[in-house]
Amino acid sequence: MTRLTARRVLPALAVLVLAGIQFVPARIDRVLPDPAPSLARQLEPSADITRLLERSCNDCHGATPTWPWYSYVAPISWLLGRDVREAKEHLDFTRWADHAPRAQARLLGRMCEEAQKGQMPPQAYSLVHRGAPFSADETKLFCAWIERAQARLADAAP
Ligand code: HEC
Repeated sequence: MTRLTARRVLPALAVLVLAGIQFVPARIDRVLPDPAPSLARQLEPSADITRLLERSCNDCHGATPTWPWYSYVAPISWLLGRDVREAKEHLDFTRWADHAPRAQARLLGRMCEEAQKGQMPPQAYSLVHRGAPFSADETKLFCAWIERAQARLADAAP
């Protein structure tokens, strides 16, 4: 008798809890920021590089024009919001102009390194977004672009 009751009560409780936590909002910024200070405007990467950044990095480090449905569902929304906030604390494409040229060059170097080591995009992300990781050729293309961008930054601010 007690087992039967638990079997009835627990799912109902789970549904109640899941419904209840939906009222706790996630800290996700869904408003598209002003594009002027963005990496895209500041560095004007080629279409190839823009595609790579949008495909593999933007969800966490950039502006996200469309959020998947599950980003609205707690507790996924909380975890996602935390991840994106953390990513942007380290590297925020939308606030690129905030960095001095020297800091931009350093961050670009880190971006190439992370891609080469296969640490960005993170593995957990690539499990869900199968097309996210860079191929060897894409990494070469990406790092070659970064070298050119760093050279331009060095010219601009010796
Ligand atoms: C799923 C979210 C996610 C995606 C997608 C993602 N990153 Fe990250 N990234 C993070 C988080 C979280 C951190 C901060 C914690 C850490 O370093 O692991 C980070 C940190 C970094 C850093 C470290 C910055 C520093 O402080 O030195 C670099 C560089 C970076 N990412 C580059 C990239 C590049 C390039 C891509 C695309 C190829 C990418 N990331 C895709 C989440 C992401």
